[in-house]
Amino acid sequence: MRPKVLVTREVFQETLDYLVRFFEIESNQSDAPLTPAQLANRLADKEGALTTLSERVDAALLAQCPQLKAVCNIAVGFNNIDLKACQAHGVMATNTPGVLDDSTADFTLALILATARRVTESEAWLRAGQWSGWKLKQFLGTDVHHATLGILGMGRIGQAVARRARGFDMTVLYHNTRRLSAEVEKSCHAAYVSMDELLARADILTLHMPYSPATHHIIGAKELARMKSTAILINAARGGVVDDQALIEALQQGRIGGAGLDVFENEPKLDPRFPGFKNVALTPHIASSSEATRRNMAMLAAENLVAALTTGKPPNLLNPPV
Ligand code: 8YV
Repeated sequence: MRPKVLVTREVFQETLDYLVRFFEIESNQSDAPLTPAQLANRLADKEGALTTLSERVDAALLAQCPQLKAVCNIAVGFNNIDLKACQAHGVMATNTPGVLDDSTADFTLALILATARRVTESEAWLRAGQWSGWKLKQFLGTDVHHATLGILGMGRIGQAVARRARGFDMTVLYHNTRRLSAEVEKSCHAAYVSMDELLARADILTLHMPYSPATHHIIGAKELARMKSTAILINAARGGVVDDQALIEALQQGRIGGAGLDVFENEPKLDPRFPGFKNVALTPHIASSSEATRRNMAMLAAENLVAALTTGKPPNLLNPPV
């Protein structure tokens, strides 16, 4: 008897083709997000799950899934998974680091450019049929080249953003819980500064840290107040690292130049005030969404699941061996 696994959201056919070689699969290919009760119900007799950020894996769920041995997230972030609860229930948890760094960094540059050069704003205006002619002062934006880029969170994705910034002749400053080695700093052409200095000097501040209690609202009213009134804030990391209410107030009061946001608190609900700001570029959590990358993420998660249930040693284990 092959172990039973659940694939909680739609994945690529190749991922299913791979998994079916090892498991009996139940797959939610219709892609309707599962309620916690539906998830518990479907997982009750499963040994493994391929999950996404839409599914909360916590003690309450795990208590209802006695057979479960592995939860493999199709995401580098894992704030949807309670690792302590997994540990207590003997469940391995994994993520998909590495495969999405470049795509997410590319998209960060897209958000920077879209916000600074008013790409989404002017496109919406053009599509609405409002263009009657060229004007010298039409949609004057802010230059990205030679600007000072502040990177908060200098892991793999932050470093990939720094390398790209070089092509725009930007000055790159960063702050991180841990200072990088001189060698990595050099390869990223990035200078380490304090959080205060980063906030004060950045023309563009981009965030690249995981979401956790320690990073909850790491950018709030106090931090926004430290930033230049012309500065642009970019968040392609996670909703909740920015205090959206504080950001909205800063935007309303013109205390910040603009924002490029791919992630939000309470997503997929979008605070209705965000679309009202012309100086905010908005996208629906798609920073990693190139076809190749999403395929790689799903496949890496599947490989983790196979390894977890066959050898007990998945390559991207998040919690200590159980
Ligand atoms: C995913 C992400 O698309 O990897 C992450 O942490 O935020 C995105 O790349 C999303 O989380 C899917 O679960």
